[in-house]
Amino acid sequence: MTKQIQFFDTTLRDGEQTIGVNFSIEEKVEIAKQLEAWGVDCIEAGFPVASEGDFEAVSAVAAAVKHTCVTGLARARKGDIDACVKATAQAAHKQIHVFIATSPVHRESKLHMTKEQVLESITDSVTYAHQFFDIVEFSPEDATRTEHDYLCTAIQTAIDAGASVINIPDTVGYTNPAEFAELFQYMQKHIPSFDDVTFSVHCHDDLGMAVANSLASIENGATRIEGTINGIGERAGNAALEEVAAALYVRKDYYNAEDNIDLKETKMTSDMISNYANMPVPRNKAVVGANAFAHESGIHQDGMLKNPNTYEILTPETVGANKTTLPLGKLSGSHAVMAKLHAMGFKVDREEMKEIFPIFKDKADHTSIVSEDDLREIMKQIKKVVA
Ligand code: KIV
Ligand code: ZN
Repeated sequence: MTKQIQFFDTTLRDGEQTIGVNFSIEEKVEIAKQLEAWGVDCIEAGFPVASEGDFEAVSAVAAAVKHTCVTGLARARKGDIDACVKATAQAAHKQIHVFIATSPVHRESKLHMTKEQVLESITDSVTYAHQFFDIVEFSPEDATRTEHDYLCTAIQTAIDAGASVINIPDTVGYTNPAEFAELFQYMQKHIPSFDDVTFSVHCHDDLGMAVANSLASIENGATRIEGTINGIGERAGNAALEEVAAALYVRKDYYNAEDNIDLKETKMTSDMISNYANMPVPRNKAVVGANAFAHESGIHQDGMLKNPNTYEILTPETVGANKTTLPLGKLSGSHAVMAKLHAMGFKVDREEMKEIFPIFKDKADHTSIVSEDDLREIMKQIKKVVA
């Protein structure tokens, strides 16, 4: 059966936890509108109790966004929940996201709470939040390092108190896809109300597995994915939502999942975040990097000219990126150079390429990319003009 996957974007909350990133309220509103255009189901606009600025930003996003659900983050405390109630008051669609850590290291070293005290806090906070919000999302922070049996008890406690979305955070990016799958299978067996709620995941990228872990969870019962655009976030960041969306699209045969994402808006969304966060996207970044649709080696360029399916599983047009390029360098072949010359208006044939190609090779040996100007220079040398 086809699964419907929800996208929960936390670029404005966890994403803003990136060192050096501080979006203005105006930027947050613009980002939220773009996230709505991209098609996310829920926007985590901030942590209202954290500062006046965060409170105002959540209020402004709540007022600006039309169809997308807006949430604020709250610790399992009344004051945090009250701040979320006020900050999301103007939202057309809203929920709250309540969290408390459940792992031994967090319980003992950070919270100084016993297992029982944490459970009590879950019951009190979720019950309190449910008075104000129809949808209460609960996160057992550091879930993947929590004792499995205790994690299930904590989750069932939250469901009993009124949570209808359970988010499983891999807070420190500790788990791997196979283990995450096993955790989901364990939870399905040991949480009596597993099928009555939505399961979400929130993966961090400390070991570079955030997207893979998110996808593994979809295969094992999660129907909501949390992450950020360009994978920005605390430390090594969060799951890059544009990568999850592209994987679900390209591998629909495998995941059999639908979502509300309008992939054509992907590049525009990524560019906006990169600009406002002042974080250039690495050239080799999947889906949105400058090299994602560029092919340099002769064998690849030859394949691309014969049939783009040889080396592209996703077209740039699909994600709103610029056309595929075949930059000419020392590994490029004569076929690609001839195609480029034709595109520039030079009518050269294979015979003429025998003269042109060695000059090109010589140039390519001394520069990283042979530019159009370089090619014009070569053509001048052999006295060939545009036809
Ligand atoms: O990484 C994390 O555990 C979080 C929670 C607040 C969900 O960001
Ligand atoms: Zn996080």
